[in-house]
Amino acid sequence: MPGTELFGAEEKKEIMDVLETGVLFRYNHDQQRNGHWKARTFEAELAKYHGVKYAHLTTSGTTADNLALAAVGIGVGDEVIIAPFTFIAPVEAILHAGAIPVFAEIDETLCLYPESIEAVITPKTKAVVLVHMCGCMAQIDKIVEVCKKHNLILVEDTAQALGASFNGKMLGTFGKVAIYSFDFFKIVTAGEGGAIITNDQDVYETATQHADHGHTHVGNNRGMEPHDIIGTNYRIGELHAAIGLAQFRKLPYMLECQRKNKAVLERVLSGFPKVTFRKAPDKKGDSATFLDFFLPDEATTRKVLKSFDKHGVGYAYWFDNNYHYFKNWNHVKNLKTAAKLPIALFNPPQDYKTIKFPQSDNIISRLISIQIRVTWTEKELMDLSTKIENALKEAL
Ligand SMILES: Cc1ncc(COP(=O)(O)O)c(C=O)c1O
Repeated sequence: MPGTELFGAEEKKEIMDVLETGVLFRYNHDQQRNGHWKARTFEAELAKYHGVKYAHLTTSGTTADNLALAAVGIGVGDEVIIAPFTFIAPVEAILHAGAIPVFAEIDETLCLYPESIEAVITPKTKAVVLVHMCGCMAQIDKIVEVCKKHNLILVEDTAQALGASFNGKMLGTFGKVAIYSFDFFKIVTAGEGGAIITNDQDVYETATQHADHGHTHVGNNRGMEPHDIIGTNYRIGELHAAIGLAQFRKLPYMLECQRKNKAVLERVLSGFPKVTFRKAPDKKGDSATFLDFFLPDEATTRKVLKSFDKHGVGYAYWFDNNYHYFKNWNHVKNLKTAAKLPIALFNPPQDYKTIKFPQSDNIISRLISIQIRVTWTEKELMDLSTKIENALKEAL
């Protein structure tokens, strides 16, 4: 959780700017806000950092997923390809858009890959939601080509990979729109918050309207603004935007620390021939939030996990996790929702109750992730290296 490791005077200052004026709302109140536009400033800096024209903040990464799908026109009955290894939010977003998630296998990039996408395309396929998992990238250049070839909209869910790039181009800038999350667990946190970024003016304008009850934000009289579309409320408040802004300015420093710390642990693991690493199409562009590695089979992986527990090494084992891998998503398999969703009216091309992902199972069952911290001291890093080394020596 690097963002939360670095709360300090900068966050306090940005919050106090807002509290001193009392304008918690991101729009209007021009006189009273004394020049403080936290959401607007954060958006401008986020867009500039990515080299795109537009950014728009939302209340969460999940609402950013909802917003991105709405803004590119994904709706009832559209099929949207997604991986079975992802945080659940983009799957929920597809369902809440009235669309149908179609799952495709992952490879050792931990993401969708070109052939797996092509294998599940049907005449109803409209889009691919590509989740760049655990801070690093999918085979994004090749996936862009597949989407072009089949006329599919590419939505990048870059919630976990802020700051990552592929061959010098920021992730999030390859598709029609991308989303970010600034929740409590992300590299840049606002407590809660999210964003979309895009180069497409129509997508941006539709998004800003949809996220604010259709308001067109023309003029300075909110009550008299025209409304072109029916929308909803995904508006971020100024306090969250203020924290996010201060945090975002620390991103280059956080990336530098993470990359340095990850390299140290990677060297330790490289000493074990049975350990292999997650495939990174451009290793230099990895944001290094996680160190992801594989063991030869599930039994050996579980042995290593036991040894990690014994030696006090923290890790994530996504195969047993309830929110990141399809295997344990019984609510999705049974399509349990609060209210009836449009998918109940369709015949999805996949039977979620019985579908199997043997290749993804094989990969995820052998995968261990260690979260990289920003503020590890040299001693802490050395101690952790020793613990990992001892645990692996014992288990392998
Ligand atoms: C890939 C991905 N997409 C979307 C989200 C949703 O973000 P939030 O928690 O801000 O709603 C997350 C959160 O972990 C995520 O990992």
